[in-house]
Order: sequence, then C-alpha cells, then structure tokens
Amino acid sequence: MSDRETGEFPRTRLRRMRFDDFSRRLMRETTLSADNLIYPMFVIEGRSQRQAVPSMPGVERVTIDELVREAESLAKLGIPALALFPVTPTEAKSLDAEEAWNPEGLAQRAVRAVKKAVPELGVITDVALDPFTTHGQDGIIDDSGYVLNDITVAALVKQALSHAAAGADVVAPSDMMDGRIGAIRESFELEGHVNTRILAYSAKYASSFYGPFRDAVGSAGSLGKGNKYSYQMDPANSDEALREVALDLQEGADMIMVKPGLPYLDIVRRVKDTFGAPTFVYQVSGEYAMLTAAIRNGWLDERGAIMESLLSIRRAGADGILTYFAKQAAQWSKG
Ligand code: PBG
Repeated sequence: MSDRETGEFPRTRLRRMRFDDFSRRLMRETTLSADNLIYPMFVIEGRSQRQAVPSMPGVERVTIDELVREAESLAKLGIPALALFPVTPTEAKSLDAEEAWNPEGLAQRAVRAVKKAVPELGVITDVALDPFTTHGQDGIIDDSGYVLNDITVAALVKQALSHAAAGADVVAPSDMMDGRIGAIRESFELEGHVNTRILAYSAKYASSFYGPFRDAVGSAGSLGKGNKYSYQMDPANSDEALREVALDLQEGADMIMVKPGLPYLDIVRRVKDTFGAPTFVYQVSGEYAMLTAAIRNGWLDERGAIMESLLSIRRAGADGILTYFAKQAAQWSKG
C-alpha cells in the first residue's frame, strides 16, 4: 500500500488515526458491554411453555420455570438485570386493577422465583396498571374515560410495595402519573424498603413504537382505539422532559429513563448533560420490530445494525439500555 499522497492538502489528516485497528481502538470514545444491558421479559401463567410474539420475531412469552432458566443464562452472560412484564389473564383484569398488588400475582411470584434461583441478578418490575385494567389504560378512569391521577398513584403505591415485599431490587414506574415517585419513595421509607431502588420512566413519550409490546402483554385489545395522550409526553416536546426528570429526581428516583430510544437521542443527551444522573434508555418493541423486520428480509446486517443502534444510544449519554437484543449484544460485545 502506498504511503504517498500529493501533499497538496492539510497536514491534519483525520484519516490517519482511522488507518489501523489499533489506533481506531485507542481513540474510541464509547463502549458497549454486557454491564450496560437490561433484558425485558414477558411472563405468562402455566408451566414449561414458551409462546412466540408475532410482532416481535425472536421474542417469547415464558412461564415462570422457563423464566428462571433464562435468568440463569443472563447471569452467565454478565447481564446485570432483567425487567419483568406479566401477561395478565383476562379474567384477572378489572376496572380498579386490584390484581396489580395481589401478593400471589404473576409478577410477584416471578420475582420471588428469580431472586431465589439467581440472587445476584437484579430484578426490575414494571409499576403501571395497564396489564391489569379491562380498558388497557395505565390508571383508574372516571366515567368519561379520564385517567384519575391521585387515585391511580395510591394504587401504584400498593403495587410497588407488593413488588418490594416480593424481593424486587428495582421498581420502575412507567405510568407517567404526577407525584408517583415521591409517593412510592415515601411508602418505601416507611415500610422498611429503604434500599429498593426506583427507576423512573421520567420522559416517556406517547409513542407509536409501543404497539408490539401491547400485543405481547395483551393490552392492545383492551386499549382499542384509545390513546395515552393525557399522561404520556407529546413527541414534539423536549424542555418538558427536563421538567419531568427534575421532578422525579427531586422526589427520590435513583435512576431515570428516556423512552423510546433512537428517535429520542436528543432528549437523552440533554437529560444526561443537565442532571448527570444514572440515565437509562428503553429501546422499545417497535424499534426491535423495525430492525428485526429489515434484518430478516436480508436488508440490514444483523450484528452491525443492532450493535450500532445500541452504541449510538450509549454515545448519546445512556448508562444502560433496556433492549430485547440484550442477549445477542452481550455475546457480541465479548468479541
Ligand atoms: C406499560 C409499558 C409500556 C411499555 C413499557 N411499559 C407500553 C405503554 O406504555 O403503552 C412499552 C415497552 C415497549 O414498547 O417495548 N406501562
């Protein structure tokens, strides 16, 4: 290979550092490792069953015994934590979502089983009422269908306490009610769960990219043509995300989240720069579905596209990423 050029151009040649792998490695600013990954999982009732989720090829809903097996392999891969999402049987759903704080509920049993089998793996639970309401909204509604804030917060506190009592390491309120972080934090202090962490879905947008998740947990049918515009954020807004994060940190959140991922990296950067708090991003079901569809059609390179999407989220300022690609990414990040 020739090391000669015409010499007509600048002395600063940025390509010089890109020439060899060793110098590319030396100046690499961002890394992705298993430590940065959280694996979201869908849990169903029953034994030894796995169900495919049609709009999320490669993702399965699993029974608790299968979940435990998965948990063991996640720990082996070096993934620090999983996030649990229960699929509530229709007969357990109601207007007031009481099943959400049933100490023998699916989520609570799943937490206990995973913590017993793999105590070193962090378990994160979802605090929101949508899997438990007959209408698929994240809260308790009035006659007009409006989601009532304060009554919902009282229900979320019961749900969060039941998760903490079951042994959840982290509760993650994804409901977007006002004041829920403070209320949950206060109840944890009073009830002896001082070290149970709160990962607040602070800047959660009313996004079209949650569709496949709603299929996976079975809330899509309940929600029908309904939307979540009166509590999830308008995708047009950015300053409002900073106000949400500020409040959640003030109310006692340990970690904050921006959701979805790739379309919202500007928000991630602003949040990280402004607060310097542990910042997480949810690469959501619709992002998974888009990438997977293109990969399965042979239109995108699997490893390249997935790792670039995750690295980009890290570069924007995320400490960790909830992603359905966590297992592959953990493996690939080892080289
Ligand atoms: C429920 C919840 C949702 C997601 C996580 N928790 C859906 C929603 O708000 O409608 C979405 C996750 C994904 O799309 O992967 N509160």
